[in-house]
Amino acid sequence: MPLVTTTDMFKKAYEGGYAIGAFNVNNMEIVQAITEAAGELNSPIILQVSAGARKYANHTYLVKLVEAALIENPQIPIALHLDHGADFEICKSCVDGGFTSVMIDASKFPFQENIEITKKVVEYAHDHGVVVEAELGKLAGIEDDVKVKAEDSSYTQPEEVEEFVDKTGVDSLAIAIGTSHGAFKFKPGTKPQLRFDILHEIEKKIPGFPIVLHGASSVPQEYVKIINENGGALKDAIGVPEDQLREAARSAVCKINIDSDLRLGLTAGIRQVMNEHPDYFDPRQYLTVGRANVKAVVAHKIKDVLGSEGKAL
Ligand code: G3H
Ligand code: 13P
Ligand code: ZN
Repeated sequence: MPLVTTTDMFKKAYEGGYAIGAFNVNNMEIVQAITEAAGELNSPIILQVSAGARKYANHTYLVKLVEAALIENPQIPIALHLDHGADFEICKSCVDGGFTSVMIDASKFPFQENIEITKKVVEYAHDHGVVVEAELGKLAGIEDDVKVKAEDSSYTQPEEVEEFVDKTGVDSLAIAIGTSHGAFKFKPGTKPQLRFDILHEIEKKIPGFPIVLHGASSVPQEYVKIINENGGALKDAIGVPEDQLREAARSAVCKINIDSDLRLGLTAGIRQVMNEHPDYFDPRQYLTVGRANVKAVVAHKIKDVLGSEGKAL
C-alpha cells in the first residue's frame, strides 16, 4: 500500500487503547530494522525524519529507502513524518517532497506566535493532504527536576490546549509531561515519574484528540552495559520506565517517539563486534549485528509497550 497519513492510525489507536511507535530513521539499516519488525508483527508504524537526518542522509535517499520498505512490507500502514520541523519552509519542503505528516515545532515561541506559525503550516499541509503535529509546552531536559515548582512552566498547560487545537486546526498535539530527549533523562537517584495528572487534565479538555509523547526512550540498560564494556562511556544513562509508557499508550497518547533506544542498540552491536573482532573491517559484519539489535528494540516496543501488534490486520 502507498504511504498513509496518521489519521486512521490515530483514530484506531485512540479507540483501541494502544499507541503507534514513531521511530527515527537515518540510514538503510534503521529503515530495514524498523519495518521488518513492524511487518513481522503486523503493526502500523511511523517512520520519522529529523532535519539532522535529512542533512546526513539526504531527503531523496530517505524517501526512496522508505519507498523500498513499502514494497517489502505491503501489508502494513506506514506514515512518513517530519520530526521537529523548525519552520514553515522545512515543513513545506517535506509536504512537497512526499511526506504524509509533518511536525511544526514552534513550542519555543510565545503561545500566540506558536498558534500563528502552526496555523500557516496546517493550511498548507491540509491543502496537500498531509497531516500536522504541533507542540505545546517544552520537554524537560535532564536539569529540569519535576519537583521544582518554577519549572512547571515547562509542562504543557492544560488550559491552553483547547484554544490551541481549535485555532490551529492541527491533527495531533505533542505535550510535555516530564519526558525529555536523549539518553540522560533523569538525575541518578531520583525516581522517574511522568505527570499523568497533567495528561488526564488535557484528555478531558480535548476528548478524542490524539496526543503525542516525545522523548520516550526507556534507555535499555543491557545496551548501555554492552556499550560501556566495549569502550563506551555512557554514565548515568536513564530513560522513561516502560510501565509508564504502557500506561501512556492506554490513554489518549496515540504516538510515542523513540530514537535514542535505536541508537543504543545499533551502537552496542557495532562496539561489541569491533571489540571482539579487531580484525574485522567489512561494515556488513558489524552493521548486521547493530541492525538486529534495532529490530529487537522495535519488536519489543510493539509487543510489550505500545500494544500495536496485529493492529494492521
Ligand atoms: O528529537 C530528536 C530526535 O532524536 C532526532 O534527533 O535531530 O539528532 O536527528 P536528531
Ligand atoms: P528519545 O530521545 O527519547 O528517543 O526521543 C525521540 C524523540 O522524541 C524524537 O522526536
Ligand atoms: Zn522529539
